[in-house]
Amino acid sequence: MGALLPKGVSKEIALEQLSGFTEKDVNWRTGKVMTGLYDPGETAHELAVEAYTSFLAQNALWITMYPSIGKIEKEVVSSVADLLRADDEVAGNMTSGGTESILIAVKTARDWARVNRPDIKEPEMVVPVTAHPAFLKAAHYFGLNVIQTDVELNEYRADLDSYRNALSQNTIIAAGSAPNYSHGSIDPIREMAEIARERGILFHVDGCIGGIYLSILRRMGEPVRDFDFSVPGVTSISADLHKYGYTPKNASVILYRNRELRKYAWFVSSATPIYVLINPTIQSSKTGGPVAAAWATQRFLGEEGFQNIVRDSQKATKLILNGIKDIEGIKVLGNPDMCMFTLASDEINIFELDDHMREKGWHLAPQFACGGSPPNLHVGLSHANVPYAEMFVKDLEEVVHNLRHKQSAINDKELAKIVNDVLNKPIEDVMMAIIPVIGLTGMDLPEKMAPLNTVLNLLPVKLRDELLTVFFNMTS
Ligand SMILES: Cc1ncc(COP(=O)(O)O)c(C=O)c1O
Repeated sequence: MGALLPKGVSKEIALEQLSGFTEKDVNWRTGKVMTGLYDPGETAHELAVEAYTSFLAQNALWITMYPSIGKIEKEVVSSVADLLRADDEVAGNMTSGGTESILIAVKTARDWARVNRPDIKEPEMVVPVTAHPAFLKAAHYFGLNVIQTDVELNEYRADLDSYRNALSQNTIIAAGSAPNYSHGSIDPIREMAEIARERGILFHVDGCIGGIYLSILRRMGEPVRDFDFSVPGVTSISADLHKYGYTPKNASVILYRNRELRKYAWFVSSATPIYVLINPTIQSSKTGGPVAAAWATQRFLGEEGFQNIVRDSQKATKLILNGIKDIEGIKVLGNPDMCMFTLASDEINIFELDDHMREKGWHLAPQFACGGSPPNLHVGLSHANVPYAEMFVKDLEEVVHNLRHKQSAINDKELAKIVNDVLNKPIEDVMMAIIPVIGLTGMDLPEKMAPLNTVLNLLPVKLRDELLTVFFNMTS
């Protein structure tokens, strides 16, 4: 256990010691991190750092003390609303990220339904299986039942029959993604929102990852499926600034069709002897940093800057997707709508591919089999990856070739047997059976993740989630 030092150290020593912690961190400046990183380039990054730190001390909770933050937030929110073809009725706020935007959208729907659909005692949410887990988290937090519906397996878009059949008298909110993180495909938002509208159900569009990017792409004259406020049944949209808005974390926008709906987002309380709490989102005290950095980044890039980024990213994505077509033993799942895609294979262990690509400096995101999708690797390009597109294809080709022509280090059958044997055992037994085969020696995750990911992929969802909860609860 740590404890406070009896006496403090100098600023230099504190900073030096702090940087010592980063030894094992991924170097995000290599251009080879292809998930969860959105690097706008050096100057924009420096600007964001300066803007962020200059508003670090301001507390966005105290709007009376720091009216600047409210004004800046309004400008950022309205620029995103404009991209999403909102009219003057649309109102929204900034949040700390996609998850908070989705949480507050669901909380708003729940409170809207309490007033407008008092007959519903057990509210339900209907989302395609490819909807982000933030929806499941929101349902868990706010007491909704979730129904996950099918996606069709050619393009991994919501299956409309499955969706329609899942809507019931109890549904208060449905949602689709633009695009989903898992496969990069936009759901049939126009159709889904219309079905929801006919039945008086709120419809949220998760544009967390694609809302800004796809809007810029559309404004460049490229064909993009409709997903924004131009679709009549859409009642709220989330769009993250800290993804393809290229601003630092934590910044996202939640937009509601009108103030009548946003009314249900607020939590206001003067029922204590403390200051009056007035929150349109989930956080309360928060730094003004992300708001200021988002505003400065938008100013710096302008529409032209965003278009250049999107143009370069589309070009690099096409180059990579074309390159992958020529690599035997690997395929892209579905038909992605932006600079994200998913790699799968019928021949090699996809998690071994991940390990080997990591040895070459590439960072991709493993995803487990679910809803008919095989296990795969998610690849999300950002502007920093663009110069490395050809290198990515070359390295991928080499790694796939090597994996196809040598014996796999993973014995799938043996792992499947181990998993099968523990399915109905207590969680501690599951843990003890798995630890020896996944290369876990201490509290750190193993260097080679393929055995662990292969085992996790084989486990049923409930058991997997329980195991991960126990593991992280023990080790963190
Ligand atoms: C489509 C989508 N929705 C929601 C989220 C959650 O966003 P955050 O990690 O900012 O909470 C993500 C994150 O990748 C996402 O891709």
